[in-house]
Amino acid sequence: MDKPKVVLGVSGGIAAYKACELLRRFTESGHDVRVVPTASALNFVGAPTWSALSGNPVSTEVWDAVHEVPHVRIGQHADLVIVAPATADLLAKAAHGLADDLLTNTLLTARCPVVFAPAMHTEMWEHPATQENVATLRRRGAVVIEPAVGRLTGVDTGKGRLPDPGEIFEVCRRVLARGGTEPDLEGRHVVVSAGGTREPLDPVRFLGNRSSGKQGYALARTAAARGARVTLVSANATLPDPAGVDVVPVGTAVQLREAVLKAAADADAVVMAAAVADFRPAVYASGKIKKKDGQEPEPVALVRNPDVLAELSAERARPGQVVVGFAAETDDVVANGRAKLARKGCDLLVVNEVGERKTFGSEENEALVLGADGSETQVPHGPKEALADLVWDLVAARLG
Ligand SMILES: Cc1cc2nc3c(=O)[nH]c(=O)nc-3n(C[C@H](O)[C@H](O)[C@H](O)COP(=O)(O)O)c2cc1C
Repeated sequence: MDKPKVVLGVSGGIAAYKACELLRRFTESGHDVRVVPTASALNFVGAPTWSALSGNPVSTEVWDAVHEVPHVRIGQHADLVIVAPATADLLAKAAHGLADDLLTNTLLTARCPVVFAPAMHTEMWEHPATQENVATLRRRGAVVIEPAVGRLTGVDTGKGRLPDPGEIFEVCRRVLARGGTEPDLEGRHVVVSAGGTREPLDPVRFLGNRSSGKQGYALARTAAARGARVTLVSANATLPDPAGVDVVPVGTAVQLREAVLKAAADADAVVMAAAVADFRPAVYASGKIKKKDGQEPEPVALVRNPDVLAELSAERARPGQVVVGFAAETDDVVANGRAKLARKGCDLLVVNEVGERKTFGSEENEALVLGADGSETQVPHGPKEALADLVWDLVAARLG
């Protein structure tokens, strides 16, 4: 099989050096990468670096190797174009269809999916001109990854940082896997909860569970690659922030409820993949509970936690909001799943069978997705991203 052809556009931002790491991810995973930098980008990282790392010629202008008509060919033959970093200037040119160098020509001739990863100072990002250009590009079907918040050039911090190259790569991988399908969640806000809550017993102990957060993070990453604005409420997961996703860290079930309800206020869909503890210790000991010689330990009294999935389902923040729950079951998976779906009142319930090397912490998953409309979709064993994509297919169908 031919290697997927990726065009890596690099424009003149300080984060251009991070595109070297992105390039390596592509080449090491079997992609044929043609790097097309702007002239400004070469002030940050030189052409020999791009050429040596990609194994392909590098040019910024349409006037090199004219017999190959590169200003048309490179775009026409690409399976994916990713521009990282995308400067404010490059976004403006792309939004307005300017074509004064090889990268902007390539963007006009490409018919494959296009992803932009903008990076710039917060003022440049927030400027109405940039925001309108981003909206134009999204409306036309491009995936524009929201910049991360953090350290910018020099001592400044704020929104505008290029997300981690590994996470930009994951978005591109998902976009490529969807084979040119339109980003169908563009304009939607989705909320995903992930990880497992921890209910403190004393300053050093908690009641927790074995959820790694991988399924929720796969859902967030996949939704972002399909164009959604994503809020990820993350309970104690230790995974890197997915590119373009707004991550809200929480600890306990009560904190998770508060964060999810707040984000759900304007959400089109809420997917509750987090493992939320049903109970928490009735009393929190402010000092460490000590063992006492010759005495049995005190039993731990528990109280119920709020049922966030039932609450979300019963009191939809918006008409037509789609609510999805997850259920981990150890036996009688279908019957227990159906009963839970009815009890919670959600639209879809993803039922996992939990067991040895199944579900928790694993890279793979298999599930049965039950619909309130009586539908049943069996998802065969495979990557958690594949299950995530199927969940979004079902959500998108319900959003209409
Ligand atoms: C040190 C330095 C860092 C810069 N970093 C950025 C940046 O991160 N994002 C951005 O949009 N522009 C940045 N600029 C401004 C761009 O380089 C400038 O707008 C240029 O015209 C972009 O050209 P291009 O879009 O063709 O690459 C930076 C300029 C300098 C001198």
